[in-house]
Amino acid sequence: MDHVRLSEAGDGVIILDQSLLPAEEKYIELETLEEMTEAIKKLQVRGAPAIGIFAGYALAALSKQQCRPQAIRSCCGASGTSDEGFLQIMQAQGDVLKAARPTAVNLAWAVDRVIHAVRVEMFRARREDPTRLNVNAGARRLAKAAEKEARAIHEEDKNMCLAIAKFGLEEVQKVCREKGQEGPIGILTHCNAGPLATSEYGTALGPIILGKEQGVEFRVFADETRPLLQGARLTTYELQKAGVDVTLICDNMASSVMKKGLIHAVFVGCDRVAANGDTANKIGTSGLAILAKHYGIPFYVLGPSSSVDLNCPTGEDIPIEERDPEEIRSKYYEKPMAPEGVKCFNPSFDVTNADLIAGIITERGVCRYPYTESLSALRD
Ligand code: MRU
Repeated sequence: MDHVRLSEAGDGVIILDQSLLPAEEKYIELETLEEMTEAIKKLQVRGAPAIGIFAGYALAALSKQQCRPQAIRSCCGASGTSDEGFLQIMQAQGDVLKAARPTAVNLAWAVDRVIHAVRVEMFRARREDPTRLNVNAGARRLAKAAEKEARAIHEEDKNMCLAIAKFGLEEVQKVCREKGQEGPIGILTHCNAGPLATSEYGTALGPIILGKEQGVEFRVFADETRPLLQGARLTTYELQKAGVDVTLICDNMASSVMKKGLIHAVFVGCDRVAANGDTANKIGTSGLAILAKHYGIPFYVLGPSSSVDLNCPTGEDIPIEERDPEEIRSKYYEKPMAPEGVKCFNPSFDVTNADLIAGIITERGVCRYPYTESLSALRD
């Protein structure tokens, strides 16, 4: 079952509440813009591609609500619908969704894509009847266009995850063959870039889950990923479910498992890849890349081309989200673990320099350094 989906009636979005995992598997339905925005902020839905999929469905659901007779009257007047009015409301809703989390580019990308599809539908309606001025497609037709685009984003993500999984599996098997490495493939991963963060196979976990299906054995070390513990709560939960050998470690143990020779490659996801290959991912990722270089372990970023932002020249241009200090001071502890009011710095992401990345694995294949050239080919 999809963990992000449109409700049966099409006017709400259903999600598996990731903030409750692994203790509780609970689906919730979100109907208002405020509920939807809060769900993104509170990480009830999270992971760059998943929040993109969610935002697409959120706009589709809110568009469906614009078809209710009362909504049509209040936004467009008694005379009926106005496509421009419909789009204005949608644009304002999209802006609110986009502002919920700044780093992952997929959120803004999905919002812009759905709004663009609706605008195209509006112009299509006008072209159908060029004899009439101000012809309206109408709310129902525009809402249908929004739903179609949101579903397309979701379907494409599933296909992209499978393609990334295939390329990633091929790559890591090749690296192990070249090094004469036998036995289970040792992977270190950080945060969660599995099915919950995307759809179906996931990105960083895709090659591992696909490999398991094909009889390729992996031994995965998952960083717990302070402060929100996506590694401990979500990655180990997903890999256990898939029957993969997974060991949980604290973030500060990565060097130790690398030094012991237990890691053959590092696989991480991405929230935004700049045009030069600098990659924003969960805080702690850049440190892993530096360690991996020290130990001669290839470090891979796996993500769909929708996470590549060619308008963002370098990592310096990626906005980094800062979150509530209580996530460090007290969240998940029985008692606060720091003096009340102590100063905290809580950036949610960091940027890994492009030259530390052995390959950026997308649905189109493995991009190699220098990334300015290999990533720009994704535009074609
Ligand atoms: O704050 P989150 O949990 O939304 O952050 C997600 C990540 O940073 C993941 O590591 C992931 O790589 C990006 S989503 C596939």
